[in-house]
Amino acid sequence: MSLSVCILPGDGIGPEVTASAVRVLQQVCENAGTSLETASQPFGGAAIDTTGEPLPPATLEACKAADGVLLGAVGGPQYDAAARAGAPRPEQGLLALRQEMGLFANLRPSRLFPTLEGASPLREKIVRGTDILVVRELTGGLYFGDRREGDEEALDTLPYSRAEIERVAWTAFEAARGRRGKLCSVDKANVLASSRLWRKVIDDVSADFPEVEVKHVLVDAMAMHLVTRPSSFDVVVTENLFGDILSDELSAVVGSIGLAPSASLGAPDTPGVFEPIHGSAPDIAGTGKANPIGTILSAAMLLRFAAGMEDAAKSIEDAVETVLREGLRPFDLGGTAGTEDVTAAILKAL
Ligand code: NAI
Ligand code: MG
Repeated sequence: MSLSVCILPGDGIGPEVTASAVRVLQQVCENAGTSLETASQPFGGAAIDTTGEPLPPATLEACKAADGVLLGAVGGPQYDAAARAGAPRPEQGLLALRQEMGLFANLRPSRLFPTLEGASPLREKIVRGTDILVVRELTGGLYFGDRREGDEEALDTLPYSRAEIERVAWTAFEAARGRRGKLCSVDKANVLASSRLWRKVIDDVSADFPEVEVKHVLVDAMAMHLVTRPSSFDVVVTENLFGDILSDELSAVVGSIGLAPSASLGAPDTPGVFEPIHGSAPDIAGTGKANPIGTILSAAMLLRFAAGMEDAAKSIEDAVETVLREGLRPFDLGGTAGTEDVTAAILKAL
């Protein structure tokens, strides 16, 4: 078997954490007898520097031709300044990539490693057992609605069609059916028209999944529930912006943002994009302190979803669990293990 992975290192710590994940991929593919082909493409700020645009056509083509895409992170203060003067933003490349590849469902698992109960800012008895899959809608809603930007007035809009809600609902219901059978749909239906449609469509789709128990929760209440009773949720499905915010909150609840992976999926024949949920962390870029685990776990998701290599994916997840159980602590978890230390320990566990 062979697997081709397009690597988009991006900016800041992106190249550091993707390099670690590629080494892990090489190791598990070797163990599995799979021939792995990887090629890096310019993306984000790094692509703006060389080509003037954050998603060059050749990069997009390479992503579409691969079995899966592994992405680091994009952005940085130097690009913010240039953007104010009219240059493109690295983050525009991310939105364009998701839209061009039709990646409408962003899966963000947040599971508390039993060995990290003490690392949560919450009390152990509250956080124990937390294992949530956030399914964030990724190509609609507030991030893709019409906008107008002026100095005196600005406007953002939050549009959704039934079809857009339906397809992400299917992803979430199927995930819930394969897990503990509970789905929590998060919206703001007491205020937003788009949320009232969201709620109606979720209820319609639920007719096809009688074995899944559905609850609707308002997003402001959900922000509270995630810190008061996180262990009571299974799958959470929500709008683009709500999902962005709630999944960052949740990543902190289960330990640290440096641990959290994600998979962005589209139609069955489209390659997915796999990336940690953190950004380019310019404050620690180049220091060797970045935690590569979020990217390494994203590579595991790539093997699972893009290659059907469940055993290989599980072996990476087990190796991460092992090194944490043995006491390895990256900087973002209050320890002193740098990118290289963490990578070497995981390779050894594999
Ligand atoms: P960030 O996630 O880059 O960093 C937030 C904090 O977490 C920082 O203190 C950082 O040092 C720490 N952190 C993040 N990842 C870490 C890791 N792997 N190991 C150890 N510590 C880690 O978010 P921030 O600072 O708001 O954004 C920085 C840049 O990243 C901005 O330009 C932003 O637009 C961009 N960004 C890009 C994303 C992406 O490419 N998907 C997502 C979020 C932000
Ligand atoms: Mg975010």
